[in-house]
Amino acid sequence: MKSFKIIPAFISMLLLPAFMLQVKAQAPASYKNGMVVCAYPDAAKVGLEILKKGGNAVDAAVAVQFSLAVTFPEAGNIGGGGFMVYRSSNGLSNTLDFREKAPSKAYENMYLDKNGNVIPDKSLATHQASGVPGSVAGMYEAHSKYGKLKWSDLVQPAIDLARKGFKISKRAAAEFNWAAKDIRKLNPGKHYLLKDGNWQEGDLLVQEDLAKTLELIRDRGRDGFYKGTVAAEVVAEMQKGDGLISLEDMQNYRAVWRKPLIGNYKGYKVIAMPPPSSGGVALLQLLQSVEKYPLHRWGFNSDSTVQLAVEAERRVYADRSKYLGDPDFFKVPVDTLLSPAYNAARMSSFNWDKATPSASIAPGSLPGYESDQTTHYSIVDAEGNAVAITTTLNDSFGSKIFVDGAGFLLNNEMDDFSSKPGVPNMFGLVGGKANSIQPNKRMLSSMTPTILEKDGKLFMVVGTPGGSTIITSVFQTILNVIEFGQDVQQAVNSKRFHHQWLPDEVTIERNGLDADTRNKLKQKGYKIVDRGPSGRVDAILVTPAGYQGGADPRGDDAKEGF
Ligand code: GLY
Repeated sequence: MKSFKIIPAFISMLLLPAFMLQVKAQAPASYKNGMVVCAYPDAAKVGLEILKKGGNAVDAAVAVQFSLAVTFPEAGNIGGGGFMVYRSSNGLSNTLDFREKAPSKAYENMYLDKNGNVIPDKSLATHQASGVPGSVAGMYEAHSKYGKLKWSDLVQPAIDLARKGFKISKRAAAEFNWAAKDIRKLNPGKHYLLKDGNWQEGDLLVQEDLAKTLELIRDRGRDGFYKGTVAAEVVAEMQKGDGLISLEDMQNYRAVWRKPLIGNYKGYKVIAMPPPSSGGVALLQLLQSVEKYPLHRWGFNSDSTVQLAVEAERRVYADRSKYLGDPDFFKVPVDTLLSPAYNAARMSSFNWDKATPSASIAPGSLPGYESDQTTHYSIVDAEGNAVAITTTLNDSFGSKIFVDGAGFLLNNEMDDFSSKPGVPNMFGLVGGKANSIQPNKRMLSSMTPTILEKDGKLFMVVGTPGGSTIITSVFQTILNVIEFGQDVQQAVNSKRFHHQWLPDEVTIERNGLDADTRNKLKQKGYKIVDRGPSGRVDAILVTPAGYQGGADPRGDDAKEGF
């Protein structure tokens, strides 16, 4: 794994107040008319203003997406992709897949050398690392179907932020400084996100080229990005580094509406993202795997709770490695993976006395089968329409390559494919045929934007960045609310742990377990590895008092309501 993945987490950790995550916050403020929770305060304010002007949750989401592309360049984007889970106030749900796709010239072994070995960093830090971006098509499609306000009014706030500039936070300054060396190396002659000397908290970031690109999107909609000047600039950028994205790839990109996955957990209806995200399938598998156990009685992060969740996570991630991929290219056995009998059988090998070694867990046997940096936002409006969107460039600042003249960063989402069966990607995830590279195929994701209902009414909107840890962070945040009675801010703040089958270890946020629990787990054979902050969950809970938000203190995340 590249070391640069570890550094931002380390930076974030240094910036955290020491008391963070230990404090039980006051009950979150409640709002009746709408709420936005996202990764950067200026973008949250933009979303709030749209809601106040009578925009609905989708309008606010479009404005937040473009504003995050300006204010949170680590992951907010127009050069990446994502997923939206939507629930209307009358209970209809839908999902939108605006995941990047492999260029039409991509091929299975494109990241292997002549000996068949994966070439380090080729799928991460080169022009060939980028999939065809989906975010602009996704926003345009979502707005065409559900939006109320004028498109141009939703893009304009981002243009203003890019042109007039905004003050960067302490965390942003640290991340820009951390990325500067790679940005300089990968963008010779360009000055994007670079400064003479170090960035400081409160510096103004102005992005004129990005403002011009956003103006084209404002005026021409999706064509402002996928045709004309911007598409030509993307292709010209590709040609500087043997990149594969062509004009046709840009023009042919389409966001796709997909049928939501619907599950149940103890009477709560769970509306989740289907493939090509693994998030929804894996989340529902995890919930099924633990549902019959008395988690509430065992308590938050007790040894039994952690052990059970880890064993479920181990099995579900093993399945992910084999069965999940783009459903337009690979028959994903969703029904079998989500059958209660299957998940009960998977958990039957679990032994309370000792950890199940991952080496003894293969992906489940299904009849007929052979074989950090992202961002999330949650929005609700006055009517009760809800949007959960997770969107990404993959790594922090994506490939770190800017499209010259257009001022935006390209994703390095191609690393989410399995470059070679069994060889881990940036997140340590392994895969095989289901997630092999093919032209125009979407790479498997872990993004897990999710909406929950209780008694037919909206209950919770939740999601997070965090690569492979996304699924387990959303899973644990839901349990924190439903099983452990935490308010939504506490549920977001609470320390998280993670197991992904391989490597066979439980990573846990520092001080996430008391010494006794830790010892008990170690004695049973669990390898426990401490880590810095994991994920940045942004969630909204519907309570009798109104909407309450949980904005993750691990980042600059902010909540705004009215
Ligand atoms: N790029 C991270 C994910 O989609 O899972």
